[in-house]
Amino acid sequence: MADGTDQKSSNQMWGGRFASGPSAIMEEINASIGFDKKLYAQDIRGSMAHAAMLASKGIISPEDKDKITEGLNTILSEIESGSFEFSRKLEDIHMNIEARLATLIGPAAGRLHTARSRNDQVALDFRLWVKEELQKTEGMLTALIAAFLDRAEENADTVMPGFTHLQTAQPVTFGHHCMAYVEMFGRDRARVRHAIEHMDESPIGAAALAGTGYPIDRHMTAKALGFREPTRNSIDTVSDRDFALEFLSIASICATHLSRLAEEIVIWSTPQFGFIRLSDAFSTGSSIMPQKKNPDAAELVRAKTGRINGSLIALLTVMKGLPLAYSKDMQEDKEQVFDAAESLELAIAAMTGMIRDLEVRKDRMRAAAGSGYSTATDLADWLVREAGLPFRDAHHVTGNAVALAEKKGCDLADLSLEELQAIHPGINKGVFDVLSVEASVASRTSFGGTAPSEVKKQIAWWRGRN
Ligand code: ARG
Repeated sequence: MADGTDQKSSNQMWGGRFASGPSAIMEEINASIGFDKKLYAQDIRGSMAHAAMLASKGIISPEDKDKITEGLNTILSEIESGSFEFSRKLEDIHMNIEARLATLIGPAAGRLHTARSRNDQVALDFRLWVKEELQKTEGMLTALIAAFLDRAEENADTVMPGFTHLQTAQPVTFGHHCMAYVEMFGRDRARVRHAIEHMDESPIGAAALAGTGYPIDRHMTAKALGFREPTRNSIDTVSDRDFALEFLSIASICATHLSRLAEEIVIWSTPQFGFIRLSDAFSTGSSIMPQKKNPDAAELVRAKTGRINGSLIALLTVMKGLPLAYSKDMQEDKEQVFDAAESLELAIAAMTGMIRDLEVRKDRMRAAAGSGYSTATDLADWLVREAGLPFRDAHHVTGNAVALAEKKGCDLADLSLEELQAIHPGINKGVFDVLSVEASVASRTSFGGTAPSEVKKQIAWWRGRN
């Protein structure tokens, strides 16, 4: 039957040597149309470029090429309007489209598959899809970076505690903390750009695995499809999926960055920290506790990371034992990538919204920055600089000052000059200039340091780089 739906008949696309059709279970395990229909636009674009090349090389007639192009255009609008009937018996998107083309234009449809195989066809479609997804990711990361740059600029001198081990360490600025994420997402974006460059080679024309004897022009199809050049080895072309693995690795690293940020947002928005307030648009209430405002979006970003990492491991595991060239195992590449792409897009979009909308509670950050003896290092550095102590001795003296402040239940800046001089006679009232959190951050002017002057330089550097 023309639509391949007859149970007993063998598959019309490859069934020449088969007496009967597949068992129901075979059909179910074999079919990918349920998910690879997502590749319809890439498949049609690839077929149009292939047909145009075949005609220009005299492999098919110009009339057949016109019929094929017209038929493919019809199919495109059928799929986009929702009237196209996908059939599981036709396995995948490639054969669904080709079978429909045969119904629409007759025998000319059978000439489209000259000098190609589904192996290079799927490699092409999927690569086009991943490349477009990476281009989208690049734009989304740019928007996230822009949101962070704005927050960093507004908060270049907003003092907050910097943490190690989640214990107060030294005062930093919120602007500096935001710029740490700009660096992370900037590297993610650089990885995306690099991956696009890597995969910018056209697979079509590799055929089943060995290339073809037809006088095809792979440079022509590569150019028509927006690739830099054709791939150079037909076996590699149909057998590797490293472009998909690269996408998943980049997605996993980026999701890990997003997840750490999500974790910080969860912590910062607790009443105990109270560093930020999330907008209503990115939080939810509790059905039982009226006072609650939950950071659900951040929590879900954190959770999506598990899913994305899982996809990377799944595809690495699918690929690791496959002999060259194509094996059907590789059909399992798509769902992992589609799912990870959807999760990553959502996570970046949600995070961009949260960062844009969040309210920074400068008073709470300032109060927390001053507690926990966060300027102890500044006192030690002052003793080295002004009293000539070796750093190790200064560390010890400062430890004594912290112990005294702890005993008195006050901050270092609240100790009197007499008390400090009792700990070390070299201390004078100049020390109070470094014990405040503002003085502490302002002094850290080393390249990449937390001083507002330095943070502003780094913001300017990134602004010139978007
Ligand atoms: N649906 C298949 C896939 O996704 C297309 C390639 C099939 N090739 C083959 N030799 N059976 O990998």
